[in-house]
Amino acid sequence: MRFTLNIDHIATLRNARGSNQPDPVTVALIAEQAGVDGIVVHLREDRRHINERDVRLLRELITTKLNLEMAAVDEIVKIACDIGPELATLVPERRQELTTEGGINVLDNILHLKNTIIELHEANIEVSLFIEPDIENINASAEIGADFIELHTGVFSNALSEEEQYDELEKIRLAARQAKKLGLSVNAGHGLDYQNIKVFRELADIDEVSIGHAVIARAAIVGIDEAVKEMIRLINN
Ligand code: PXP
Repeated sequence: MRFTLNIDHIATLRNARGSNQPDPVTVALIAEQAGVDGIVVHLREDRRHINERDVRLLRELITTKLNLEMAAVDEIVKIACDIGPELATLVPERRQELTTEGGINVLDNILHLKNTIIELHEANIEVSLFIEPDIENINASAEIGADFIELHTGVFSNALSEEEQYDELEKIRLAARQAKKLGLSVNAGHGLDYQNIKVFRELADIDEVSIGHAVIARAAIVGIDEAVKEMIRLINN
């Protein structure tokens, strides 16, 4: 299972004082040295954390893989096509939310998503759809030409009992298996942390996890290098 690090929170901290510290680009480079398989950033329409300068510099400087989370809107699609991340992950975006709250409803947006995927493919960018772990969304994602799906793990991560956690894990397991059958690569993320990763890592069909909050929070205490290495040790068991 590969591990990609979402560094949006570093930009949130920087922007809190309108200064240039801490710099998400520097943090990305240290995280790469510590062993992450890729860097994830979400260029939001309101630019509340990551900005265009960050994405352009990351594109130039990182040597792993850049995964750009984004809404399927014209302005951001144009920027993505210009900058050229390896992967664009399409997510629903609401201004009022603290973080992305759930997956895209593929069936309700099928034509628009299909056209966005075509546009990104023309710029040689692979496309992932952030979706809930249900079969209909997975089948629809494959039909419209997505290369990856990213399964939303928020419900699993917020489970209040072992039973609920187990039920959610099973949903994710079945969803990932179906996606694999259809030839999709499978990412997963949201709320994964140093505890719940211990059961999550058993899912054989998950290719990659995208983790932000838990690792950046840990980095405030032990530093980014150590926080990343601790997570890698857990993922590799
Ligand atoms: N995947 C997606 C699509 C997200 O929007 C986020 C949050 O930015 C994550 C993964 C990472 O979630 P967390 O910060 O809870 O680890």
